Amino acid sequence: MAKKTSVLATGGAGFIGSHVVVELVDAGYDVVIIDNFENAATDVLQRIARITGTEVPTYAADVRDRELVRHVLGRHGIDVVIHLAGKKAVGESVAEPLMYYDANIGGGIALLEAMGAEGVGKLVFSSSATVYGPGDAPMDESHPVGPSNPYGRTKLMLEEVINDAVLAGKISVALSLRYFNPVGAHRSGLIGENPRAVPNNLFPFVAQTAAGWHDRVRVFGDDYGTPDGTGVRDYIHVVDLARGHVAGVAHLLSGRMQRGHERLNLGTGRGHSVKEVLAEFSRQCGFEVPHEIVARRPGDVAACVANPQRAEHLLGWRAERSFEEMCADHWAFQRAVLRQEAEPAA
Ligand code: UFG
Repeated sequence: MAKKTSVLATGGAGFIGSHVVVELVDAGYDVVIIDNFENAATDVLQRIARITGTEVPTYAADVRDRELVRHVLGRHGIDVVIHLAGKKAVGESVAEPLMYYDANIGGGIALLEAMGAEGVGKLVFSSSATVYGPGDAPMDESHPVGPSNPYGRTKLMLEEVINDAVLAGKISVALSLRYFNPVGAHRSGLIGENPRAVPNNLFPFVAQTAAGWHDRVRVFGDDYGTPDGTGVRDYIHVVDLARGHVAGVAHLLSGRMQRGHERLNLGTGRGHSVKEVLAEFSRQCGFEVPHEIVARRPGDVAACVANPQRAEHLLGWRAERSFEEMCADHWAFQRAVLRQEAEPAA
């Protein structure tokens, strides 16, 4: 029997990684995870197994461990790497920039070296819309870059490192996927975002407030130049985002791109305001999620929306899930977490 195509997902136990792994297994790939479990629970592996019926081989290790990464690439005959491992808290990156450059840039360089040494030439990189400078209209990939914090700069810098590695022939092809705002959860309610610290992001904070963990949501400003005055973002369902990665892997394997590095937006092309998020969440839970308007959060922009046409053109992918589904699935996952926490300890 011919060997199935093997994909390594670094950071495959995290919020986005776990959804990517599920979609890859469903699409018929052999998948291997490397994750240091710094920001992921170990029980996510059983949950992935429950959804897919497959035990995904997993290495609890850091991508900066070059020897281990080389071993995994060789032992599993990896064809494509999806690099999701990294740190992602904006505030923490301002306080601890060296830690961020070490983890995100150091991790990327170690991975690229290991890929070069093992002759693995195909890479999908988890980048972010945070690489862009401000702009009100939907942004395409030619929008000027200008990240405003160390986290964002690590994403942009690693894109540049990858570009140079491709130019020098260390690897052959790469896609940098620039995520807009991933939200929602898998329909099963088994995997989703369950931050350990108080979340900074809107969706998990709204979900936790609806669950009674916080008094109210603070709406950071209602005096922006947006239709209702609150911040507008391009929220994308995490399952759509995960399928974008599967489409990316298929594109790299198709041979249509022999050599090169493409940067692609993964978003819906539609923006929703903070007030719209609160209204839809309130509709889903059946009561109004408490909130108050407070001052703007420093560093926030009025709007950030993707022009996703290039990804659609190149990958034949587009986000399909509605804004209502994003809120419904996020809330369903939050309720599953609540039920689980209410269970008496065994
Ligand atoms: N917001 C609130 N109250 C909150 C949290 C957020 O009103 O408690 C508002 C923000 O002001 C913004 C919107 O909700 O208008 C979305 O905020 P998020 O923090 O959820 O998302 P951001 O767009 O600010 O941040 C996201 C990612 C970052 C990334 C950034 C830029 O979480 O990792 O996009 O691309 F850096």
